[in-house]
Amino acid sequence: MDPKISVHITGTGRAVPDRILTNQDLEKMVDTTDEWITTRSGIKRRHIIGPGQSNSDFVAQACRNALAMAQVDAADVDFLLVGTITGDLIFPSTACLVQEKIGARNAAAWDLSAACSGWLYGVKTATALLKTGMGKRALVVGSEMLSTITDWTDRSTCVLFGDGSGATLLEAREDSPGGVLATYARTDGGLAELLHIPKGGSRYPVTPEVLAERSNKVQMKGNEVFKHAVRNMESAAREVLAQAGLGTGDVTLLIPHQANIRIIKAIASRLEIEMDRVYVNLQEYGNTSAASIPIALDEARRAGRVREGDRVLMAAFGGGLTWGAALVQF
Ligand code: ACO
Repeated sequence: MDPKISVHITGTGRAVPDRILTNQDLEKMVDTTDEWITTRSGIKRRHIIGPGQSNSDFVAQACRNALAMAQVDAADVDFLLVGTITGDLIFPSTACLVQEKIGARNAAAWDLSAACSGWLYGVKTATALLKTGMGKRALVVGSEMLSTITDWTDRSTCVLFGDGSGATLLEAREDSPGGVLATYARTDGGLAELLHIPKGGSRYPVTPEVLAERSNKVQMKGNEVFKHAVRNMESAAREVLAQAGLGTGDVTLLIPHQANIRIIKAIASRLEIEMDRVYVNLQEYGNTSAASIPIALDEARRAGRVREGDRVLMAAFGGGLTWGAALVQF
């Protein structure tokens, strides 16, 4: 009988800009308060890219950290997937630029656009590629420089976002228990306008009018996104648990997309997972979109909160709308 291939997360890494923007800094920029931001979102600080820095710089560093943890050479990576909506350039992809920076000379590299769900979509894609034997190793990254697409005059969005990169190395193994137990991804393009950048793409290219009205920056109907986020992340989490034949009691740690502490608490409560089994770091980073789960996973692993045999449930949602979940045993 052919050996059964399973896919394991063997390395994690993160890289975030040093520059910090606090709620107090935002009080000087828009009509808001630390109290409003803290109670409505849970966010206290976010890291913001500086002049001369680029998304690919942070992705490259996060990848190097993940490769070092797994003790794998970049030349042995077969696929490099970067989930991002804030790539360095329109093309080539950020993944191509990173492939050169880290010396992953044998990897096919491409970006994946699924907003905040980008890393989870990448895990699903890479798991499928590795399970079919098309390669042995994939770097899957979520990375955003959301500050570059934020309207810094819009208090309803600018207080929420931050910049950062999180990388994971996925490796195929034969007859090895655990690894990626289940993945799930869904889309509802009918809800695209709840969270989008209306102009600046090929349908409405950038013009002086677009720049003046800032319609090339993120716009969001926060209240409506909130409701879909809770409902969809809960259903995605239940879906992967059902696929694996497990219940929420079998989950060591829940790592939800770090968008809003009230969303996170609502999901934890619906899933009946106590908050001491939920990883939260949005107070430090804000919503870093595709980067939020892999940054949190890397922190959790390095802090000893994810040990061998532990089952980690991860769920995300974002623009598209997109959403999904993954259940991984380490
Ligand atoms: N400071 C002070 N007041 C504010 C601010 C602010 N920064 N922003 C909005 N307000 C005001 C509003 O104007 C409104 O005032 P009004 O009642 O006089 O009209 C009031 O606060 C309440 O606004 P709501 O939008 O109803 O506030 P809510 O409790 O829904 O919180 C929030 C808003 C934080 C955006 C929440 O809806 C949310 O987190 N939604 C989900 C967003 C999300 O997670 N998106 C993730 C995807 S990101 C991606 O894919 C890139």
